[in-house]
Amino acid sequence: MQVPQSTTGLTAHLLGRPGTGRHDASAPVARPASHTTSPVTSYATPHAHDTRVAPAVCLSAPAPTPSGAAPVRPSVRAENPLEWALLRLGLAPLPLLDGYWGMATSRALLTAIDLGVFDALAGDPLTCEELATRLGTDPLGTRVLLGALCGMRYLRCSGRRYRTTRTVRRWLADGALVDLRDSVLFFDDLWGELSDLTALVRSGETRNLHLDGRGPEFWRHYLRGLAAFVPLVSGEVARKVALPSGARTLLDVGGGHGMYAAAFLRRHGALTATVLDLPEACAVGRECIAEVGLADRFTWREADARTADWGGPYDAVLLFNLVHNLSWDENADAFRRAYDALAPGGTVAVLDSEYEGEGGGISLTAGLNEMLFYLTTGTRVYPEATIRDWMAGSGLRGIRTRHLASMPQMALITATRPRA
Ligand SMILES: C[S@@+](CC[C@H](N)C(=O)[O-])C[C@H]1O[C@@H](n2cnc3c(N)ncnc32)[C@H](O)[C@@H]1O
Repeated sequence: MQVPQSTTGLTAHLLGRPGTGRHDASAPVARPASHTTSPVTSYATPHAHDTRVAPAVCLSAPAPTPSGAAPVRPSVRAENPLEWALLRLGLAPLPLLDGYWGMATSRALLTAIDLGVFDALAGDPLTCEELATRLGTDPLGTRVLLGALCGMRYLRCSGRRYRTTRTVRRWLADGALVDLRDSVLFFDDLWGELSDLTALVRSGETRNLHLDGRGPEFWRHYLRGLAAFVPLVSGEVARKVALPSGARTLLDVGGGHGMYAAAFLRRHGALTATVLDLPEACAVGRECIAEVGLADRFTWREADARTADWGGPYDAVLLFNLVHNLSWDENADAFRRAYDALAPGGTVAVLDSEYEGEGGGISLTAGLNEMLFYLTTGTRVYPEATIRDWMAGSGLRGIRTRHLASMPQMALITATRPRA
């Protein structure tokens, strides 16, 4: 696992030495800079990876088992033996890193994408002043932001000109390996919700962002953000879910962007898909599916899955990253609906965070994801055993859990409706 190289780090902070990042703080700006360059500690975050593995932190649930191997775990990285020793001895000021640097690096990245910094620097390198003119931003504010982005290794500065690094070109640019711009902008949409965590935990009040009238931008960032990395995993998912031979109909409940259903359609030539989702989600999904040229094999049903008639019979029903958005009772009911909607011999498949339940350890990824689900929908991640109970309780049989090499922290649970 490769992480960005940094020339400043924990040692600089602990020893009070100035950072030595390549950001050119001495270059003139329109107003005198009152700040000093701060040392930046590296976080080993998903953006730096070369491997084609889905990002670990997203609303759609990736959460490693306490015993399983997480594909990534954001953490402070020691850059020299002294830092390593300080970390090992527990002398690194971790609360400062978690409380300040985590927040600050997130904000700098979100603002950069929001303002179009990376897009503007996709071509020739620009000076701070040229960039500020192009973006219509304040030169000093722009300089400060560029400094943070250099420290984070999203940008590099030489000869007073700023250019993007490989991290940006791979993950945040047109033609990227996986374009995560919408995913990251979705975290910007959640910024306010995160600020409310204290109040929500104190009061137990919950909200469901799916149902409180968010606008099209929110839905676009949310579902396109999830769709971005589906191609990394959907081939394996479609391969591992066995459909009845000659399968022709698939229902994707909470299918949103439709990209998982699309993977099944590519694998099974006679298959058509119906996506049952909320109207705002279907609007984005229609766009995504039109872009991949499968619109004529899709039908969209705009409805609340908790109350709608699911129709049928279908040869397959997908419940992908929906279970963690529903309450306990709603899930028990959803599996009864899935059973009723399936043709005899049909397959139901669930894809969701793998979670062993309370009583064991919990990974950072699983803990943060569950906190996010609570914030955004008032729900949680359900243990695999609970999902299997819901399946069995609805009459489904042949329940089987599969693991995904391309997304190790997810559980793929399949079952069939008996023929007789
Ligand atoms: C986390 S996204 C998952 C999208 C896609 N299935 C995936 O795995 O990437 C959850 C989806 O469930 C949909 N959803 C949530 N509550 C719903 C409800 N009550 N009825 C229908 N769809 C719902 C959302 O609109 C969203 O598209």
